[in-house]
Amino acid sequence: MNQSLITFDEQSKIFHLCNNEISYIIKVEEGGVLAHIYFGKKVGTYHDHKNYPRRDRGFSGNVPGQNERAYSKDTLPQEYSSHGSMDYRVPASMIRRENGANLTDLRYNSYEIISGKPPLEGLPSAYVLEEKEADTLVITLKDRFEDIYLDLSYTIYRDRNVIARSANIRNLTNGSLRLEKIASMQLDLTNSGRYQDVLSLPGAHVKERQVNREKIATGIKRFESRRGTSSHHMNSFIALLDAQANEFHGEVIGIHLVYSGNHCFEVECDQINQLRLVAGINDYNFSWGLQPKEHFQTPEVLLVYSDSGLNQMSQTFHHLLRERVARGKHQFAERPILVNNWEATYFDFTNQKIEAIVDEAADLGIEMFVLDDGWFGHRDQDNSSLGDWFEFAGKLEKGLKGVADYVHQKGLKFGLWFEPEMISIDSTLYHEHPDYLMQVPGREPSSSRDQHLLDMGRKEVRENIQQQMETILDVTEIDYIKWDMNRSLSDVYSTALASEQQGETAHRYMLGVYELMENLTQKYPDILWEGCSGGGGRFDAGLLYYMPQSWASDNTDAMERLKIQYGTSIAYPISAITAHVSAVPNHQTGRITSLQTRGDVAMSGVLGYELDLTMLSEEEKNEIAEQIKKYQELRPLIQYGNFVRLQSPFEGNITSWLFVSDDQSEALLFICRLLANAQPVFNEVRLKGLAEEFFYEDQTTGEVYSGTELMNIGIYYPDFYGDFQTKMIHFKKQGDK
Ligand code: DGJ
Repeated sequence: MNQSLITFDEQSKIFHLCNNEISYIIKVEEGGVLAHIYFGKKVGTYHDHKNYPRRDRGFSGNVPGQNERAYSKDTLPQEYSSHGSMDYRVPASMIRRENGANLTDLRYNSYEIISGKPPLEGLPSAYVLEEKEADTLVITLKDRFEDIYLDLSYTIYRDRNVIARSANIRNLTNGSLRLEKIASMQLDLTNSGRYQDVLSLPGAHVKERQVNREKIATGIKRFESRRGTSSHHMNSFIALLDAQANEFHGEVIGIHLVYSGNHCFEVECDQINQLRLVAGINDYNFSWGLQPKEHFQTPEVLLVYSDSGLNQMSQTFHHLLRERVARGKHQFAERPILVNNWEATYFDFTNQKIEAIVDEAADLGIEMFVLDDGWFGHRDQDNSSLGDWFEFAGKLEKGLKGVADYVHQKGLKFGLWFEPEMISIDSTLYHEHPDYLMQVPGREPSSSRDQHLLDMGRKEVRENIQQQMETILDVTEIDYIKWDMNRSLSDVYSTALASEQQGETAHRYMLGVYELMENLTQKYPDILWEGCSGGGGRFDAGLLYYMPQSWASDNTDAMERLKIQYGTSIAYPISAITAHVSAVPNHQTGRITSLQTRGDVAMSGVLGYELDLTMLSEEEKNEIAEQIKKYQELRPLIQYGNFVRLQSPFEGNITSWLFVSDDQSEALLFICRLLANAQPVFNEVRLKGLAEEFFYEDQTTGEVYSGTELMNIGIYYPDFYGDFQTKMIHFKKQGDK
């Protein structure tokens, strides 16, 4: 029997969640206010000494019912706040009653400790395989005057620096409630001197997940998406860092929201320099009606604490997302090297053209062919046929089955592109069901890439799409599906909902998409599913629960990719990040880089090719065949090893990173120099995470180094010549083959 990771001391009213690495401490304060005491490095025993000082602060009112001028919700660090009883900081919840009031005063009611981790209803979440892996504390708060209950869940894993949190609100009153805001979590830190910086992953289409670190200043800063997806523009992840923290030193708290829709992280620095973080579904264009006896479950947030900088935080997330968020047959499988026809042909392909590409792919050793956009309805451009998931007979004279059979006969797997959430006006689906299109009655809906959204909150809409997709999947042997989504939400309105429910539409859309993904991924477990949203517009922890990998960006330029892949690695494992070698001049930037450079960068993720293989010279084909052999050998190390960021492309001319196998017997160093310069500085790099006592052999030169030499003395970077140069150095423990 394992000892529980959670204790409650009746006397001091303290909850302590603690494993070998971290502690999370909560106290039921006077009057039942739930106070936050601590989250950080393990504290063996907590003696209740850090009680929040009492001080009368002008204009910060007092806790109702307590009659104590020095006790205020406006300053007390709390676990979850509500609006209206003189806590003027950003609230975690706003609940409106039928009479228009929105004051809620949540106080401690009861608690329960559960072994393991219950799943969240209808939402993606981290899981356990065995109960002993984690314990869950559920603390129930209740409004002082009404039967509104809030269950706060905290799961602590036994062997991970991770706390998972979510909230569930229950309406046991006789009237209806309207949730105007309901965050997944709040974290109040009094030690704002400790966490002075915030790191986020903002970006744009073809420029996803850039790294942005800034000082936390007085006021409120929102890191959010209002686009209906987790978005290219602001990823659903942030980290709080101490001012000195870097990749290898210092304290960091990483916060991942396991959700793919509108999100918001609010970071507030208050009147006395205390920090409040509130994270969850964005309250922008959100409201949710809760009838008597109904409840609302928020998405989950994953909190990671690291006392050794960003790298350790990232590695904890990499393991967690890979091992306890991603699911299914391909979760730990080596991912196939594919060739995708998008940048090779765009919409302009025939059976013949595809067969020519497949012939080359087979000769080069490529393992899968993916037929991208344009195989369905009558789609020859991007302005038609979305929603018509039947094959474009006039285009593929041998049919989709003909393509699949040809690919399989050649010994490759076959993958297919879908964009299930969309509808084109020029489609049979729109002709038959114009009401499926999400729009506000009486108005012209905004179009983006000439396409519109389906109202995925409606069951009949999802059923229609599911049934169409199943018709294809049941008759064609398909090994992989790329699930794309090429616009943001707008005209957010559902004809299936009453007027007062329209604020529910965006979240219902997301719940509907999750349900469809769950149905299809469960029904076709052999298929490898890849997420995509115009590149990396929905690259988030929620999607990973259904699809173990995602297309990182439509930007395939190797130099731009350095930043995109580096930024993505802060929060996501390498096995989730797909990267392709494409043609030069690059279609997005016009830049010309060597095939080696393009290969080395794409090999730092899940490798694929996206160019017309029939246009290559013999020399290029030989080089690609070599890249493929090399990647096949290195694949387990790259996809499932520990990834260490060494030098950032956001900080200088050199980028480097490292893959180290779990048993430390193998390492792969990647180095890139952006621009050439005369009289270059002799840069050097010291490796990390190797075994001090091992001897490592450079697999190209045969030179041998001890682990201590590589980690303490380091090596010089190669003397590169020319711009955009890369090199990979593969070390193996001496004696290992
Ligand atoms: C956006 C994706 O990111 C591309 O790879 C491609 O699939 C296109 N959509 C097709 O429309």
